[in-house]
Amino acid sequence: MRKQIMLQMLILPAAFAVLITCSFAQPTPNQSQDNDWWKHAVFYELYPRSFADSNKDGFGDLRGITSKMDYLKQLGVDAIWLTPCYPSPQIDFGYDISDYENIDPKYGTLQDFDSMEKEGQKRGIRIIMDFVLNHTSDQHPWFISSRSSRTSPFRDWYIWRDGKGPHQPPNNWNSLFGGPAWQWDAKTGQYYYHFFYPQQPDLNWRNPAVEKAMFDVTRWWYKRGVAGFRLDAVDTLFEDPQLHDNPVLPGKNQFGDPNEKNEYDQKLPQVHEVLRALRKVADENHAVLIGETYTDNLQQLKQYYGNNEELQMPMDMMLGLVNKISAPAFRHQIALAEASGGWPVYVMNNHDIERSYDRYGDGKHNDAIAKLMAGLYLTLRGTPILYYGEEIGMQNNDPKRKEDVKDPIGKLGWPVNKGRDGERTPMQWSDGVNAGFTTGTPWLPVPPTYKTHNVATESKAPNSILEFYRHLLALRHTNQAFVEGKYVPLDESDPNVLCYLRQSEDQTVVVVLNMSSAPQRLRLDLTRTELPRKDRSGKTATTLLTTMQQAPQQVTLDHMQLDPFAVYIGSVR
Ligand code: GLC
Repeated sequence: MRKQIMLQMLILPAAFAVLITCSFAQPTPNQSQDNDWWKHAVFYELYPRSFADSNKDGFGDLRGITSKMDYLKQLGVDAIWLTPCYPSPQIDFGYDISDYENIDPKYGTLQDFDSMEKEGQKRGIRIIMDFVLNHTSDQHPWFISSRSSRTSPFRDWYIWRDGKGPHQPPNNWNSLFGGPAWQWDAKTGQYYYHFFYPQQPDLNWRNPAVEKAMFDVTRWWYKRGVAGFRLDAVDTLFEDPQLHDNPVLPGKNQFGDPNEKNEYDQKLPQVHEVLRALRKVADENHAVLIGETYTDNLQQLKQYYGNNEELQMPMDMMLGLVNKISAPAFRHQIALAEASGGWPVYVMNNHDIERSYDRYGDGKHNDAIAKLMAGLYLTLRGTPILYYGEEIGMQNNDPKRKEDVKDPIGKLGWPVNKGRDGERTPMQWSDGVNAGFTTGTPWLPVPPTYKTHNVATESKAPNSILEFYRHLLALRHTNQAFVEGKYVPLDESDPNVLCYLRQSEDQTVVVVLNMSSAPQRLRLDLTRTELPRKDRSGKTATTLLTTMQQAPQQVTLDHMQLDPFAVYIGSVR
């Protein structure tokens, strides 16, 4: 390994020299003036519970995050999206909020939050909060009052209905997390609605008081300095007021419930009215709204941009969930995002899905494939959202026994659905005890690969996944073609190699990704493309970054040899 590293350094001295100086030279954005800062930013989803533990209780916390700001800066992160760290009974690990304007003592205090934000600001790193607006915790004072009596002033803040008859819920809607979406409340003799766990009652967004209270929450955090929100589960804000049954589909889901088409409980048109109104508040505060938007097609994705009146950043999960290494499939998804008319937002990983290291890894070339995936979504036009640990090649670590499962859906769905613990394990900082995450007992076990895949070890290995991410993100921040260039697909019928240009006014960069386990030969002929004449003459590229072991400083475009799963990025001349 060490030998290979030396070779690459020798062959690419110029490229590495440029990258190394760049990685610490990111401009610190002017936080108030640049409204489009998010277009050129790299976002990092951080799961506070699992990032860094400062007080030895086995759970990550805000002080832990603050202590890692330099790491994030050096990686090339511009904004952190914190998954919920508000007070919560933690049934859904924070996605069940009992107070929207505070910090859960498990994670620290508001003062810790302010210091974290200040340290971020010093380094040009903004904070994005997770905003769970579809539901609260059943321990939120609003719900406690709502369920106390039918005449509570908060009764109509949630969705209460009579059953169809004795022991019969109002309709056939299922909870995403298993079982009926209706919970019987004996005290007041009605059912309440919960799209997720019964401990997460849905708010009634048709009640203007709910809208006002929730919008005020965003204002409160904007005043505290947050740069925006990631809007949780936006698809589910509204339900059909007539409560029509959802159409039933053949078969059963992983919880044994009948499959159904979510016609009446998801993606109702009223969602867009709320998004437009929330966007106005965001604009007044120069903030950005990211949406948890699982879409099936281009039309749905377009709707979330809403002619630039809704979300600036609806997440495009379609690229990240292709789930097979396929040049044509990725090409197709990129074309869709490009056609959306909005600024693409790419995501490969999050706290709800199996890590991409496992989803795309073939068991033999996993590290090379991890770099290939980075080479793909970090070089596209658009904004990427990384997930903590992805940059070191963290693997899923699913529970081996039902009794070890923490995530309730894993308990209910075992063994078909083992829950989401596997993708939420502690960040791997070193090869020391508990991967350097805590000196206490970590709330979830670290995967065995922490011995090789950790920040300390990878920082010392120039060919590591981490170093590749650092160089790539530095390039993204400093090369104009990546900052603002258009995406120009090349060789669109190649079944194995995904290849495109990023082209700005005066720079053209070629990105070549070998999506196969076999070496490939590439003959790129820009004269045969539909590029403007002046751009068609490039015949060679100067290497900027590559995973190839023998890449010269200059390559001839019509005669390229690619290693299996290679990434090649070069500046076209
Ligand atoms: C979102 C979150 C997920 C959570 C759910 C309910 O999908 O990403 O983790 O369980 O909303 O809030």
